[in-house]
Amino acid sequence: MGGIIPDKVIEEIREQADIVEVLSDHLTLKKAGRNYKGLCPFHQEKTPSFMVSPEKQLFHCFGCGIGGNVFTFLMKYEQISFAEAVRSLAQRYGVRIPEVKATAEDQRKERLLNINALALDFYVNQLREEKGGKNARDYLAHRGIERGVWEDYRIGYSPPSWDALVTYFKKKGVNAKEVEALGLIIPKKGGWYDRFRDRIMFPIFDLRDRVIGFGGRVLDESKEPKYLNSPDSFLYKKGASFYGINVARKYIHKEDEKVFIVEGYFDLLSMAQHGIKNVVATLGTALTPEQVRFARRFGKDFFLLFDPDEAGKKAAFRGLHLFVQEEIFPLVIPLPDGLDPDGYFQQGGSRQALLKLAVPGMEYAMEALMYGCDLGTVEGRAKVVKTVLPFLLQIKDGVSRDLYLKRLAEKMGVQEVEIRDAAFAMRKVRKHGAEQEPTTTMYISTEKKLVQMMIQYPEFIPRVAEEGVVEDFKDRNLRFIGELAIHDFQHHGGLSLDRLAPQLGERGLSELAFALAFQEEELDENVAERIVMDCLRNIKLNILKRQREGINRKIKEAEVQGDEALGTSLSLRWETLNSQINKLQKEGLKGSY
Ligand code: UTP
Ligand code: MN
Repeated sequence: MGGIIPDKVIEEIREQADIVEVLSDHLTLKKAGRNYKGLCPFHQEKTPSFMVSPEKQLFHCFGCGIGGNVFTFLMKYEQISFAEAVRSLAQRYGVRIPEVKATAEDQRKERLLNINALALDFYVNQLREEKGGKNARDYLAHRGIERGVWEDYRIGYSPPSWDALVTYFKKKGVNAKEVEALGLIIPKKGGWYDRFRDRIMFPIFDLRDRVIGFGGRVLDESKEPKYLNSPDSFLYKKGASFYGINVARKYIHKEDEKVFIVEGYFDLLSMAQHGIKNVVATLGTALTPEQVRFARRFGKDFFLLFDPDEAGKKAAFRGLHLFVQEEIFPLVIPLPDGLDPDGYFQQGGSRQALLKLAVPGMEYAMEALMYGCDLGTVEGRAKVVKTVLPFLLQIKDGVSRDLYLKRLAEKMGVQEVEIRDAAFAMRKVRKHGAEQEPTTTMYISTEKKLVQMMIQYPEFIPRVAEEGVVEDFKDRNLRFIGELAIHDFQHHGGLSLDRLAPQLGERGLSELAFALAFQEEELDENVAERIVMDCLRNIKLNILKRQREGINRKIKEAEVQGDEALGTSLSLRWETLNSQINKLQKEGLKGSY
């Protein structure tokens, strides 16, 4: 298994490994200016849009958006973990990896993972048992799941006995307290008993192919509950993982980063049985923000499959909302006739027919929300505007938001300007309540430009840091990248996205950062400086204006409450801000070109 690889060693390998050299093992790269160019190995293309930069030690594909450093490349290309990629490069470049002693916590984790792995062995063997596993095998067959599929997912069976697992672990000399901590056995007077009995066992894996928990389905329908899942433990947290990721991760890449998301265990197995293996299941809970953040680590385009009943519709809306918050626009597959995916295939549905049902999630939401509203009447239209607009206004990206506002106008058969007016009015009302003022496209694009300049001309980073504007960025992704860049510069005297790749990847931001890095323009140093100064000024101006607006509100409140002293001090503050704003604005006029 091997211990932890120290950061210093990773750094050393990173310095030694040459991205062009390593990638050339797998692809044909041709020099094109400062970069190398080739056909992207991650999607089908005829003209090369895959770029490799020897200076930055990064790659980026303009076709499919994939990007990263030498480690990420190997991880994706060879479907291996980060540690495996590090080890393989260490070997190639003759870097020795010292074995470091793991912490007590790591050791405990290692032991618990080992217990789960042993439990999985036990359950898998039980299902294969000639006699003991027969009922369970018959059940799977009766539900149309073939052996190849259940073996793929490493499905098992827990026998009806009260102490089969307890005894198994006792024989192995495993500490029962730790087995208990994973919820596999439950304490009773003078001992323990098995939690899962007479159930089909579904192991739940993490992205590194380790078992973190289990789900079990009863064979005897008269028993309750139908599904029993591992309780939260040191390894498993409800609502933070997906079932089926162990298989899906091998297929997602081949399927253009597409991922299907279903609710149930058997829905997933049915999908797999019908040739859709890039699928994960939410494990019975409604999608959580944590799952959505996790999902973006392994996929790019998502298909949400929900039951067509009211609960399913709600779940679809909730799922959509969470994805849209992360600026991902999934597709929705509404299934006909009250069927869940399992039922759909039982009724003769096919993979192809299922794919045809996919509609853009926002379209689906608009249609669903408009359903039953009479577009012929003023009241009906007002109702649509009131329900659909808030849904569209949650879209942060101005361009996409505008697109959907336009779609709504089309669907309703009204002028776009009417929808825009309504949206404008709605925002004004909302602004008073929540702090959350919608960001303008222009504002974000200034932030983006500044971050791009920081990445391409790191010599300006100290200037940007000095102004302290990055922590006030409205766009949290850009803020994260900007702060990371400043931090990196301050600690290493330079910026290396390559070095930051793991942190960016963790947040799902590699693509954005690398795209910015590769949008190169050869700028004159003076021009570059002017752009940076312009960005800084505009951002500062916006921050000050927001503060002035806040003070304005407070002044009005103070007036209402008759607090004169407060009013005066606020007015002074207002004056200061106002003159700062005027000064910046004047500078802007002078300096603009
Ligand atoms: P469903 O009740 O829709 O069951 O629960 P299903 O998946 O169609 O089950 P089958 O087809 O009868 O086997 C959907 C999901 O909710 C979770 C499970 O993950 C299940 O797959 N669930 C359901 C639980 O965790 N506990 C329960 O008691 C029921
Ligand atoms: Mn079902």
